[in-house]
Amino acid sequence: MWRDSRVETTSREKHRDRGGGSARGPERGSLPIVPNPQTSPPDESEQPRPRSTPRVSLGGLAASVGAELRGAEGCAQIPVTGFTHDSRAVRPGDLYAAMPGASVHGAEFAAEAAAAGAVAVLTDPAGADLAEAAAPGLPVLLVPEVRPALGPAASSIYGEPSRQLLMLGVTGTNGKTTTSYLMEGGLRAAGRSTGLIGTVATRIGDRAIKSTRTTPEAPDLQALLAVMVEEGVDALAMEVSSHALAYGRTSGIHYAVTAFTNLTQDHLDFHADFEDYFAAKAKLFTPGYTDLAVVNADDPYGRRIAAQAAAAGVRVWTFSAAGARSADWRAEQIELGPDGSRFLLVGPEGRSYPASVHLPGAFNVANAMTAILTLIGAGLDPEQVVAGVAAVPGVPGRMQKIEAGQEFLAVVDYAHTPDALSTLLAAVRPVTRGRLAVLVGCGGDRDRAKRPLMGAAAAWGADLVYLTNDNPRSEDPLEILRAAEDGARQALAEGAKAELAVIPDRAAAIHAAISAARPGDSVIVAGKGHERGQEIAGVVHPFDDVQVLSEALTGLVQEVAGS
Ligand SMILES: Nc1ncnc2c1ncn2[C@@H]1O[C@H](COP(=O)(O)OP(=O)(O)OP(=O)(O)O)[C@@H](O)[C@H]1O
Ligand SMILES: [Mg+2]
Repeated sequence: MWRDSRVETTSREKHRDRGGGSARGPERGSLPIVPNPQTSPPDESEQPRPRSTPRVSLGGLAASVGAELRGAEGCAQIPVTGFTHDSRAVRPGDLYAAMPGASVHGAEFAAEAAAAGAVAVLTDPAGADLAEAAAPGLPVLLVPEVRPALGPAASSIYGEPSRQLLMLGVTGTNGKTTTSYLMEGGLRAAGRSTGLIGTVATRIGDRAIKSTRTTPEAPDLQALLAVMVEEGVDALAMEVSSHALAYGRTSGIHYAVTAFTNLTQDHLDFHADFEDYFAAKAKLFTPGYTDLAVVNADDPYGRRIAAQAAAAGVRVWTFSAAGARSADWRAEQIELGPDGSRFLLVGPEGRSYPASVHLPGAFNVANAMTAILTLIGAGLDPEQVVAGVAAVPGVPGRMQKIEAGQEFLAVVDYAHTPDALSTLLAAVRPVTRGRLAVLVGCGGDRDRAKRPLMGAAAAWGADLVYLTNDNPRSEDPLEILRAAEDGARQALAEGAKAELAVIPDRAAAIHAAISAARPGDSVIVAGKGHERGQEIAGVVHPFDDVQVLSEALTGLVQEVAGS
């Protein structure tokens, strides 16, 4: 209901489809891997593609995805060397997936795809008629519904890359990005060559790839996995959004371990209702998807997932950061501090590991446990994993500490929902000796109902509240601010004790917040996290909370030193 779905949309998203997902896997014989001269090397500006593919034939592909092949005699032998659902991204040798969209069917673009070198179109009955009219002679792979076939087809075309990787997936409302970074750190410490896929970054080893959405569409995702395999990656930490699960973007992938962080009401603009949202997340914990489920037993939906997964025959490890004895693993002796937390991870058969995480806040103990247990569950050395997670210095825009020598805690965080904001403030309160200040705004062109709720969450949770602009987008920034202010004032009328300031200019608000801070205080700059721009009246202006806050702090420290 509350969260902006800001990471899930992209201007490249042309043909939106609401098809269901499928965990059906392709059946494939052993295909020789041969260099594919038609596929150019990965291009940083585009979705990366592997240099070589197994060159599966159209006939073989039809058999593996259960499609009917329509075309001239002999077309079954034509090799397929790539796959895309975007007609503008077709490369010679590609299969073009044409799906129904909100206004047009992708098959309308079959002629463009053929002109760009597509060897066939994968489509549904409506699309087949359109494609046969638009591009006569272009072979058609006909399926009842395109979306469920995308993952299996992509996996087949790119040689089932996920089978060559240790696949680790994490889902839940909050903590996916943080946990995937911690997993990446643990994997590296255990000597693995890593890949990372998620909201903030997609990485092959140390090389960053453009991240357009949390989980790419199946053709792009499988191509990316194949590139990772080519570049020597052997283990992947992957954030799996519920959009991805609902749309079947991850079908055709089998994970060694999948992890569940938590579930709160969120993204309801997208999912029909909360049960739908739950069902989307729960898919990742079925035998088709995973061998082991690592599940947060402190969350009621986690307990439901654990029970369902176990009943379906998936091995389950439950954990409790709250120390619940009913969980398989629990955190004990937790010491929370402004620099992070230490705890003892206690498991079955007397196993225990002293662990720590460099990110402050109790929820990061849960994130660290999720990462550590996923990695131990994948068979990695526990001592190396614990050391690797402890060594992760931070996650961009996620409880990210900014240090310029100031005498108070300054943090940039991505919390942009009422719930996340309350959780964030509650997490920082115990490590704050002085006053807790929060700077926050609300996005325009997104759920309006959350604005007063965010204002109220800030007023209840903090001592000093700076309401400011987030991304107003096409809306009047002052109107957005007024809604947030109404919520804050209502909370004050009901007994909240915060001091309130409204400073529309975000940089000015950041300066005001740190100028007022005293030693021992905490200043939280919330809402935009890793984002590098601020969208005002349709124009994205460069704006980076981390940079603005760092520079302001450096200036402040120099001023104090000079005075
Ligand atoms: N385990 C957790 N429980 C509750 N809140 C959390 C947890 N981990 C992180 N958060 C909060 O949620 C925000 C988003 O965290 P993170 O980016 O790791 O989650 P995410 O699941 O990847 O989110 P998104 O769906 O927006 O990509 C953080 O900035 C923090 O305020
Ligand atoms: Mg994320």
